[in-house]
Amino acid sequence: MMDNSTIKSIAKHFQQNPDAKVIFMVGAGISTPCGIPDFRSPKTGLYSNLSKLGLPFPEAVFDIDYFEENPKPFYTLARELYPGNFKPSKFHYLMKLFQDKGKLRRVYTQNIDTLEREAEVDGKYIVEAHGSFASNVCIGCSKKFPVDTFKSQLEPIKLEHKKDKSEKDEIEFDYARCDECDGLIKPSIVFFGEGLPSKFFDTWDEDLEWLKKNKKANNIVMVAGTSLTVHPFASLPSEVPLGTKRSLWNYEVVGDFRSNPRGGDLVFKGGSDKAAQELTRELDWLKELKELIGEEEETKHQDAAEEVTVITNELENLNIGTERKGE
Ligand code: OAD
Ligand code: ZN
Repeated sequence: MMDNSTIKSIAKHFQQNPDAKVIFMVGAGISTPCGIPDFRSPKTGLYSNLSKLGLPFPEAVFDIDYFEENPKPFYTLARELYPGNFKPSKFHYLMKLFQDKGKLRRVYTQNIDTLEREAEVDGKYIVEAHGSFASNVCIGCSKKFPVDTFKSQLEPIKLEHKKDKSEKDEIEFDYARCDECDGLIKPSIVFFGEGLPSKFFDTWDEDLEWLKKNKKANNIVMVAGTSLTVHPFASLPSEVPLGTKRSLWNYEVVGDFRSNPRGGDLVFKGGSDKAAQELTRELDWLKELKELIGEEEETKHQDAAEEVTVITNELENLNIGTERKGE
């Protein structure tokens, strides 16, 4: 079932099952309306734009071995994407509405933008599967550091470079380092090559049990704005017990919804904010949604495509290819 009829079916599901709760599983796509680029969209995604730069491979910005060798690209990206610069989307506020209505079981997010918290979804519901900027850790000895340790080093030192005017200004960072072992300190974001927090696995075990025990409530799992390519997160939808309703809100049909579709799947192929708006209308929650969004609705959200251009320009200034250690 596709498109607006999908949203109507979901609304009906909640009307007919007043005890039904939602488990959300979300990714970068729910934050593109906020002006934050996702990773894998062909033109506007971070990775296709980073591929033009000198990185050995685009995902290197989030690769633990590469970071150890050259932290500069990650510092540059983190400066652009640091939480606090963006406002939640309608989809984020939809999750908050489900909380307010007592219909929220959990939010599994792959995002590090902390916009779930910004939308005032309670921390007890949130599982930040790929970590966040909220704490810092030494990659050498795992010593923990306060949030400011990394953040305070994000302001680059401008090197005076007075050769000729056409030359780009070189940017240097004073990398945050551990006082015990001199290792690099990084935010507790899960990089490629690192494990997910144990909370992710423990909570999912708990929620699986809960889904199995509470089948009568007709709970629903809503997946949105993710390409479902990065494991183990990507396998969550396939682990949802048979008989539990699944829904996908995404520009494209992805993961288990494509390779192993189930008869009852409710697939909305389109924008997550549009779907959020439609569902709140169907459920008669529009007034509350407006109140949550408040004045911010008037201030236009920046386009994710513009932000990705800013990021790419910043990274281009780094001359990444010629600045690797030992070169
Ligand atoms: P991706 O960029 O891989 O996927 C985003 C998905 O959302 C794509 O399928 C888009 O088509 C879709 N999309 C984008 N904007 C949308 C919108 N407004 N409405 C509906 N769909 C939209 O992002 P993730 O799946 O989150 O890891 O990526 C997973 C992980 O890969 C990330 O957590 C990140 C990355 O490497 C780390 O940062 C550690
Ligand atoms: Zn250390």
